[in-house]
Amino acid sequence: PFTPMVDPDNDNVADDFAFAFDIDGVLVRGGKPIPEAIEAMKVLNGENEFGIKVPYIFLTNGGGKFESERCANLSRQLDMTVSEGQLICGHTPMRELSSRYRDCSVLVVGGEGETCRLVAESYGFHDVITPGDILKANASTAPFRRLTPAEHAASRDLLFSSRRRHRRPEVVRKLSDIVVFAVFVFADSHDWASDLQIILDIAQSRGGRLETRSETFDKGPPIYFSHSDVVWSAAHEHVRLGMGALRKMVETVFEETTSGRKLVTHAFGKPQVGTFEFAERLLRQWRAEKHGLPFGILPCGRSQGPKTVYFVGDTPESDVKGTNAMDEKSGREGTEWYSILVKTGVYQEGTEPRYRPRKLVGNVLDAVHHGIRREM
Ligand code: G3P
Ligand code: MG
Repeated sequence: PFTPMVDPDNDNVADDFAFAFDIDGVLVRGGKPIPEAIEAMKVLNGENEFGIKVPYIFLTNGGGKFESERCANLSRQLDMTVSEGQLICGHTPMRELSSRYRDCSVLVVGGEGETCRLVAESYGFHDVITPGDILKANASTAPFRRLTPAEHAASRDLLFSSRRRHRRPEVVRKLSDIVVFAVFVFADSHDWASDLQIILDIAQSRGGRLETRSETFDKGPPIYFSHSDVVWSAAHEHVRLGMGALRKMVETVFEETTSGRKLVTHAFGKPQVGTFEFAERLLRQWRAEKHGLPFGILPCGRSQGPKTVYFVGDTPESDVKGTNAMDEKSGREGTEWYSILVKTGVYQEGTEPRYRPRKLVGNVLDAVHHGIRREM
């Protein structure tokens, strides 16, 4: 299904092993490259004692941008070219749900400005509502949040206008005419209080109908988070709160405000094994597309791929937990997933990681050397 851009130096490509990298806390921190990351990429691109190129992909829980933009940023930060065929963001797998909600209204939360709405539309969601649209229609939804003039102008007019962009115009007279079929938290919230309020309003509504309250609190639409990292590694010397913290707040405050009812939400991203399976498919495709390595089904029924994938991460709860779970699931016949934990991000030296990696190293360059030495 793709045209291979075969590596002219095909003989010197490692076909038995590959790397996959977490981004924040491993390659980048606070928008700046971690110094050893640039050298690590050079080593994988063939600047090593064996002159061998090693295929690799990137698997981040981060998001809030088009994958193409994230690749452009990473290319600049790492001083090389990163292709879209090599990158998965936290929200990338949400694309697969767009056909289920194609003609339904969905709430998309997070990120800066209108970007997440545009990303969701590019995934095939046709009727995307944001918290800004709801605040524009009813400012009393979040008493202390005022949209800036720019936000007001960019937000959709949900009332008295065509609601579905791609279908027959339909007039909505009040917010309760609108039913939200699912909530997708695409990226970190930029305004936790109003986003929390709006997500909870929908979770406690009658079947997702805006501005209604359920009596039983058991009919709310599904709520999907693009990952569940409670903390992550940014520019500050200590870890910062992430989307997983908002997820916990949503669940805890729901319980608190519904006399103890439990709210079950769903998460994509690492450590979900489904995300690692998605990554393995991408890696197989990338190896074939970029390096001309075989991409087919073996007589035993197993698809051809590397024997080992070295996953380099900084967060035991997402990176190590997910890699180890993927390795266990793959079993003896499948690809070995080998976890390497670095000390440049969330994990703090001297502490006991909650999930034990196969190897603990200082930084991403040490991780790359470790994998190559183990193989050669
Ligand atoms: O918001 C991003 C963060 O939670 C983690 O990103 O690259 O470490 O998976 P990453
Ligand atoms: Mg990380």
